[in-house]
Formats: sequence, C-alpha cells, structure tokens
Amino acid sequence: MKKVAISTGGGDAPGLNAVIYAVVHACYRRGWEVYGSKSGYGGFLDIDEMIRLTPRDVEEIYAQGGTILGTTNKGNPFSKPVKNLAGEIQVVDISEKIMKNYKRMGFDCHIAIGGDGSLEIAHRFSLLGMQVIGVPKTIDNDLEITDRTFGFDTAVATATNALDKLHSTAKSHDRVMVVEVMGRDSGWIALYSGISGGADVILMPEIPFDIEKVCEKISDNELRDKDYSIVVVAEGAKAEGGEVISKGEGELGREEVVLGGVGEWVASEIRSRTDKDTRSLVLGHLQRGGSPTTFDRLLALRFGAAAVRLVEEGTFGHMVALISSQMKAVPISEAIKSRKMVDLNSDKLLTARDIGICFGD
Ligand code: F6P
Repeated sequence: MKKVAISTGGGDAPGLNAVIYAVVHACYRRGWEVYGSKSGYGGFLDIDEMIRLTPRDVEEIYAQGGTILGTTNKGNPFSKPVKNLAGEIQVVDISEKIMKNYKRMGFDCHIAIGGDGSLEIAHRFSLLGMQVIGVPKTIDNDLEITDRTFGFDTAVATATNALDKLHSTAKSHDRVMVVEVMGRDSGWIALYSGISGGADVILMPEIPFDIEKVCEKISDNELRDKDYSIVVVAEGAKAEGGEVISKGEGELGREEVVLGGVGEWVASEIRSRTDKDTRSLVLGHLQRGGSPTTFDRLLALRFGAAAVRLVEEGTFGHMVALISSQMKAVPISEAIKSRKMVDLNSDKLLTARDIGICFGD
C-alpha cells in the first residue's frame, strides 16, 4: 500500500485533469491512496488543502480543461515573497516546512505535474529527499527531452481555429490582421498554428525580424492580387536589435515577466509603413482554456499512467517523457537544463518557407 501525493503547478494547460484521472485510477487498481495538493504545494502547508482523491472524485474529468486542484505560477517555496507586518516584502524559504509535512503526512512519493519552473522546484525537493516523479505540462511545448508536452496541441488547435475565422473578415476588408499568440520565449505555437492556419507571416523568438521584410511580404501579396494578409506573432518575438515587449514588472511572487504587446507594435508599424488598414488581436488565455484535444487527452492519460508505473518501479527523480512515440523516464535534471526552441532546420520550418511564409528575415 502506497500513499501518493499529486500536484499541479505553473500556468494551467488542457490535459491536467486527464493526468489526475489516470493517476487516481492507476493507483486505485494497485490498492494505493492518492491525495491532491491544492494550488501547487498548498496541501503540504495546510492539511485542509490536501484532499483525498478516489475514482468517484475524478469521474469524467479527463475531458475538462483547467485543473480540479487549482494551480499557481507565483510563490516558489524556496524563495517565497511575503509581506511582513510593516507591509515590507520579505523573501522566505518554506521548503523545510513542506519537507517536514510531506514526511509527517506519511507520503511515499509526490507526482508533480508542471512546466520547467514547477519541475525545477520538484527537482530541488527531490534533492532534499522527497521521492518525486515529474509530468511535463505546458502549452508552450518548450520542455527539453520530451517530444511533446500536453496542452500544446489544444493551444495550437485554438489558435488555428482563430486564424481560420480571421481569413474571411480580413479578406472582406482588404486588411492586415496581426494575431499575437502565447509561447513565452519559443515559437512553437506561432509556427504550428501559422502554418496550419494559412499565415502569410510568422514572427517568433528564434528568428529576430526586420519589419521592412514583413511589409515587403504584404506588398508582394498585393502585387499578386491578394489584398489581405495574416500575420502571426509569438508574444516573445522581437525585432532585430530590439527587445522583447512585456507588460512591465511581474506580479508579487511571479519569477517571470508577463509578456505581451508585440502584436500591437507590429500592427502599428505595418499601418504606418504600408497605409493598409491593420488590426491586431491577442488570443491570450483562450489558448489555455477548454477541453483538451484527443491528442492531448491521450498523451496526458499516458503520462499519468506511466508516472504511476515509475512509482511502482521506484524510479524517482525522473520525469515521464514522450520520445519517438514511447513513454520513457528521463532525469528531471536533464529536462530542465535548457528550454527547447524551434529548430531552424526542421522540416516544419522548411515547409513554411516552401509554401511562401515569411519570417521577417
Ligand atoms: O507558460 C504558459 C503561458 O501561457 C505562456 O505562454 C504565457 O506567457 C504565460 O503562461 C502567461 O501567464 P499568466 O497566466 O500568468 O498570464
């Protein structure tokens, strides 16, 4: 009999509930108990936030977006900012308290579902003696080693669907539509949705762009009697020699800046340089919402079940990964070493160039 804790950390992604579903069922079949920690490590700090999960509690959640456990991308337990009585911010390390409670509550292991930030935290806990298994989640698909993270396919489907809808309005008005998509410092969502959604231009962090080249592509379209254009911009894209555009200071406890604004900047440059009617929109959190696609559901269920098999084998400190269609175990330390960027020689990029998509280079 084992007692397993499970948590979801970082930004939510479609498929989190499917992982929870698989873990609960796979543990139940083995006669083990599962407890869900609310809002990341909340359950390790307050027993009321640690909830028992049985198959009954997770009925049909595999098809639901979000996470029944709640999540947070603020407040790393190793350096958590808190306000003291005088209203000043102090950074405290609450990891020891979490370790103590983890042991006191009698857990055998912790299945941590998260992106690079949450997996880095899980790795640090594993160095302190927590028996951890990682499950790779993020719509950004920027985690190393695993071919895919769950959530990405759904985000791409949402963005592609939006692009499909924009074609008719852009065409009716002879307009340029600039669509800003998520992805943080990588261009996976922009590239996959841009190719699939008929973009004329894709701008992504891996290829700093020249706005003149973007405008040339729009003028080229007009010469070929195509009077509208669709431009997809990843939130982390930047002009050659320019900086990433952010919304300023992050929120308290959030370790990364909140990106956003590059789409509007690109649109205003296009408007003033080409005189074309240009509009921009930000897809934002729509990309994180909704029911996971079949691909993401299946991947998330496979990750959850594989994580439980790793618990059974005792392969702790590892993350489940999709490698050439197989479920593999890789050290979490390997997966968090760096971020996975789009390979500029990949077939997808070559495909995009072959079908005439401009990258502003
Ligand atoms: O990492 C997932 C992600 O959606 C990024 O693509 C985006 O930059 C960020 O999270 C947004 O975070 P928040 O939900 O805090 O606005």
